Amino acid sequence: MLKNIIDTHAHYNDDKFSEDRNTVLASLPEAGIVKIINCGTDVSSSAESRRLAESYDFMFFAAGVHPEDCAKPENETDLGEIKKLLSHPKCVAVGEIGLDYYWQEVPRELQQKFFEAQLKMAKEADMPVIIHDREAHGDTMELLREYRPKGVLHCFSGSTETMREAVSLGLYIGLGGAVTFKNAKKAVAVAQEIPPDRLLLETDCPYMAPVPFRGKRNTSAYIPCVAEFLAALRGVDPQALIDQTTENANRLFFGGLTA
Ligand code: NI
Repeated sequence: MLKNIIDTHAHYNDDKFSEDRNTVLASLPEAGIVKIINCGTDVSSSAESRRLAESYDFMFFAAGVHPEDCAKPENETDLGEIKKLLSHPKCVAVGEIGLDYYWQEVPRELQQKFFEAQLKMAKEADMPVIIHDREAHGDTMELLREYRPKGVLHCFSGSTETMREAVSLGLYIGLGGAVTFKNAKKAVAVAQEIPPDRLLLETDCPYMAPVPFRGKRNTSAYIPCVAEFLAALRGVDPQALIDQTTENANRLFFGGLTA
């Protein structure tokens, strides 16, 4: 059985876990999961992520306002509240933050304003960022060039060229279930080229369950499907791939500590 797995991007606060959240979480250590980073998308989900991190040893969290959420009322997008959460001992990143031009509801200027403010906040706190970039590669990269944060481009969907530039800026590339989908030819081509020391594994659960569970509720227990897919693609042993990505996640989010 594969072990030593870090899920660098999860949303266990989601309603889809409301019936059986504790049962699912309690089962994960037996499924080889050693750490999980639960990502906030607004003030209440960031605070909920903190509560989960306080309840489970293996849970850590990121606090941030997601691009799709930045048009919410002020109490849900209060960056002062996000900043307070960053000082919690189990908060390991600012996230998830970024730009999403796929959904048209939130004006781009507003998304950019929140993204920039949170990039600054991460710099000040000397913390990595977890970046959501959907159909906004040009503007995302422009801000990353300017602010040079530590961090990860999660569920990476850009070109090989963009991946190489992100890597040259010192960033990591997060991959999850989407890379196993039949129509993921571009992501597969990129996945082959990611330097071993920059690859991270993630779920984005409850979404993005990998093949053969596509369409079902995702959990960290499905990460081995992604690891096996990527290992075959890259011609390496699945456990070796996991051990390398775990070392990468520990370097980026946990100050190199492996415990
Ligand atoms: Ni997410």
